[in-house]
Amino acid sequence: MTETMPDFELRPLKDSDRSEYALLVHSSFNSWYWRKGWCNDYFRCPPEDAAIFYDIYNDLTPASSVAAIDRKTGVIMGACFYHPREYHVSLGIMSVHPSFCGLGVGKALVNYIIDFARQKGYKSIRLVGSAINMDSFSLYNKSGFVPQKTYHDMVIQVPAGGISGTVPGIERVRDARVDDAHAMGEIEFEVSGIKRLQDYLYLVENRRGLFGVKVLENPEGRLDGFMGSIKHPALNMIGPGVARTEEGAAALIRASLQRFRNESVLTVVPMDCLKLVSRMYAWKARNVETHLCQVWGEFKPFNGVSIPSFLPETG
Ligand SMILES: CC(C)(COP(=O)(O)OP(=O)(O)OC[C@H]1O[C@@H](n2cnc3c(N)ncnc32)[C@H](O)[C@@H]1OP(=O)(O)O)[C@@H](O)C(=O)NCCC(=O)NCCS
Repeated sequence: MTETMPDFELRPLKDSDRSEYALLVHSSFNSWYWRKGWCNDYFRCPPEDAAIFYDIYNDLTPASSVAAIDRKTGVIMGACFYHPREYHVSLGIMSVHPSFCGLGVGKALVNYIIDFARQKGYKSIRLVGSAINMDSFSLYNKSGFVPQKTYHDMVIQVPAGGISGTVPGIERVRDARVDDAHAMGEIEFEVSGIKRLQDYLYLVENRRGLFGVKVLENPEGRLDGFMGSIKHPALNMIGPGVARTEEGAAALIRASLQRFRNESVLTVVPMDCLKLVSRMYAWKARNVETHLCQVWGEFKPFNGVSIPSFLPETG
């Protein structure tokens, strides 16, 4: 270790870290975006609400996190979750405390997750990372991640009366049921080469009361897509979801928007889906950021529309 390099150990987050972790995520993102001239808080909720990331990830895959702990003070310097699934590992949410940025903490966390994936024989790690955040972009790029897809982060302020007008196919959208989970896995695998049964079941069962899930059924009774959404003070977001077509994705998003009357909601939309993007603009979407699907290892181009989410992280 050099003099400037902090002395830390890596270990999973524990329940007793929950409050400190919430402060870490909140201050890491808010201070990064203020420092870089965003002139706005990234998280507009009170810091303790950011504990929802800890809560949901621990519901889904307990202890699948890595934290860098200062050996002298016991302070959490940075932390990241990782999500081993059927065919891939996804990475997120990554945060380093503003007092410890630029000292190699982020790199140590990413290396830990890459080592985990290698040891378990995974052929790919995916994440959705900001395209305007050069600190995280460079961190992932230098660690071997390759940008494979570009996304608009589009925010819609949904009027109190909901979005007016309709879209083709919306009559085929219905609420998801637990027995849809298997078909959700089949279609996600077909579109984006991944599967995560535990995530679909978790979203549909919705024990915390935060999620909505819609499916798009075709006349033969098979699924042409699904779309999750989360409504929480730390994050209102539509996704994760996939659809065979842009029209299908628009129907699923349109139906999901109705959950967010009188609120604003983020959807991350593939830039090459021009019809879907223009539909989002017609619903008065505002571009707030851009993201990249970053992949370490194997990747097959998507075969349809994939709408990522940050909670749970899609990858
Ligand atoms: C992004 C973040 C996690 C990085 O963590 P960190 O501990 O500061 O990162 P590190 O010190 O390990 O540096 C990572 C690497 O990126 C490199 N890097 C950073 N900016 C760079 C740039 N503009 N060009 C080239 N390399 C750059 C560093 O030199 C380092 O590489 P090296 O180890 O080979 O020298 C941290 O800034 C953070 O928490 N930001 C706020 C939250 C956030 O943005 N999360 C990710 C959302 S997508």
